[in-house]
Amino acid sequence: MNAKEAQKMVKACLSKKRYTHTMNVRDAAVHLAEKYGADPDKAELAALLHDAVKERSREELLQILQNNAIMAQNAEKSPPPVWHGICAAILAQTEWGVTDPEIVSAIRCHTTGKAGMSKLDKIIYLSDMISAERDYPEVYELRRLAEEDLDKAVCTAVEKNIGWMRECGKSIDPLSLEALEDLKRGMQTREDTHE
Ligand SMILES: [Fe+2]
Ligand SMILES: [Fe+2]
Repeated sequence: MNAKEAQKMVKACLSKKRYTHTMNVRDAAVHLAEKYGADPDKAELAALLHDAVKERSREELLQILQNNAIMAQNAEKSPPPVWHGICAAILAQTEWGVTDPEIVSAIRCHTTGKAGMSKLDKIIYLSDMISAERDYPEVYELRRLAEEDLDKAVCTAVEKNIGWMRECGKSIDPLSLEALEDLKRGMQTREDTHE
């Protein structure tokens, strides 16, 4: 599936609101990919597909996880809000003909992050949080950081996400905690080598 086909598919299966979000994530992701030297075509396809199954029912998503147990890797133990990324990554490979592991990874971890995020993983994660329609108070700071420093922006974004989930008493996927620890470590190593 190419970007044009992906756009057509999500336009047909998502609400207007989520389709607009998807287009805004696409625009942000292509911009950040060009800015930070990632592949803009991969960023575009990953962004277009990242929320493609977000409007499917919980039962349907669970069914996708159960039907693809090896790919799902016990994902049903993760909090249900993260299932849509994992399911989109599974369907990308099994139904939509997306074989590029970088794209699949970026779709899969767009809600949680993970340890060892690639540049594309970071770009999709961040684009999802700073897309043009978002207007929570901290988004302006994140957009500014995104223009300055990708690593710092993603680290801040993951940290904020974990903070919000804690405030709301939601369960936090261990992958997010691993992502934060890893990103912080990366930032520290970078600072140390620049001293
Ligand atoms: Fe999502
Ligand atoms: Fe999204």
